[in-house]
Amino acid sequence: MTNLKISRHDLSTDKTLRPHSAADELLLKRVAALDTKPKSLAIYHDRFGYLTCHLQKMSPVAVLTEKSQEKAILKNGLSNNLEIRRFSNPLSSLKKKLDYAIVKAPKSLALFQVFLEHIAHNSTAKVTVEVAFMTRHFTPKLLSISSQYFENVQQSRAEKKARTITLSGKKQVPKQDIIDTIEYRNNQYQQYWGVFSAKHIDYATEYFLDCFDLKPEDKTILDLASGNGIIAKEIQREAPDAEIHLLEDSYLAVESAKMNISGPNIHHHYDNDLSSFEDNTFDLIATNPPFHFEHEINIKVPLYLFKECYRCLKSGGNLQVVANNHLNYKTHLTTIFPKVDILGQNDKFVVYKCVK
Ligand SMILES: C[S@@+](CC[C@H](N)C(=O)[O-])C[C@H]1O[C@@H](n2cnc3c(N)ncnc32)[C@H](O)[C@@H]1O
Repeated sequence: MTNLKISRHDLSTDKTLRPHSAADELLLKRVAALDTKPKSLAIYHDRFGYLTCHLQKMSPVAVLTEKSQEKAILKNGLSNNLEIRRFSNPLSSLKKKLDYAIVKAPKSLALFQVFLEHIAHNSTAKVTVEVAFMTRHFTPKLLSISSQYFENVQQSRAEKKARTITLSGKKQVPKQDIIDTIEYRNNQYQQYWGVFSAKHIDYATEYFLDCFDLKPEDKTILDLASGNGIIAKEIQREAPDAEIHLLEDSYLAVESAKMNISGPNIHHHYDNDLSSFEDNTFDLIATNPPFHFEHEINIKVPLYLFKECYRCLKSGGNLQVVANNHLNYKTHLTTIFPKVDILGQNDKFVVYKCVK
């Protein structure tokens, strides 16, 4: 394998984080050891492009769920003089049936099953799948989900604390409906498997919706990191004439939100930053921001987003944020906003109102 220079290209300023792990290396090793090179290869959940760039000679399709993944892969392709064009997502059919797929196991087991569903219905009968993960992230559910789709489920020994599971002998399984319904205040919300807060509303979001402060003059509103769109929808119920934008990194979340909220004033954005918005655009930005990224916890990402919120708010506009108490966002928010108030606090969460 050629040695390429791969960077994370994410919103975090933490330079100690690596763009790949031993699990990625193990996947490359498995592909390199194949006697016959795959005719149709897919790479699932390549976070920053380590796999897609190294395997570019095989013209793989990168099956992704996040805009941030696509951006990082394109940037890494560019800096290594690789022209990467083939992207897909788990909701689209692939043009060519796969005979080989590699999967970097996601933290969400529901998303893992979405990937296997996609492989099952977009592959030849002889497809082989290699799933890789760090041993500390192993759960027997990876095996039981795999067994729903494949006769042979073979776990490898650990190498550098990473392992693979090899799947072959595809079973004939009917296509599953990969959408769940959750209920909140007698309203139903639909969402694809693997989208944030499966099965019920997130407790922080619920607390946010109990506390948040919407004024009649809030006409242009952003739901940042909108997930299934529940915050935007509750705002729309109270302010049906407001122009509401939803911004989300996850494609499955954006497609879920489209099932829950629509209308002439509603705008869905599949993106991981606010670069498409002008300065001084919004009266209100509402958010339950991300700080978990797969197995990492990183508050540098929400802090970056808060600075961008300041830029995109009108003067006098405000950002309302719900957070776990222990994250202590107030210290950071007060360095960005002149006025930071608390709209509500309980033993777990706090809701801040930050005025520009
Ligand atoms: C805590 S969840 C909140 C979801 C939804 N607002 C709710 O309350 O159920 C955070 C969301 O942020 C999304 N996300 C992660 N990084 C993001 C980014 N850079 N830009 C936009 N959304 C992001 C995740 O996909 C996830 O859906």
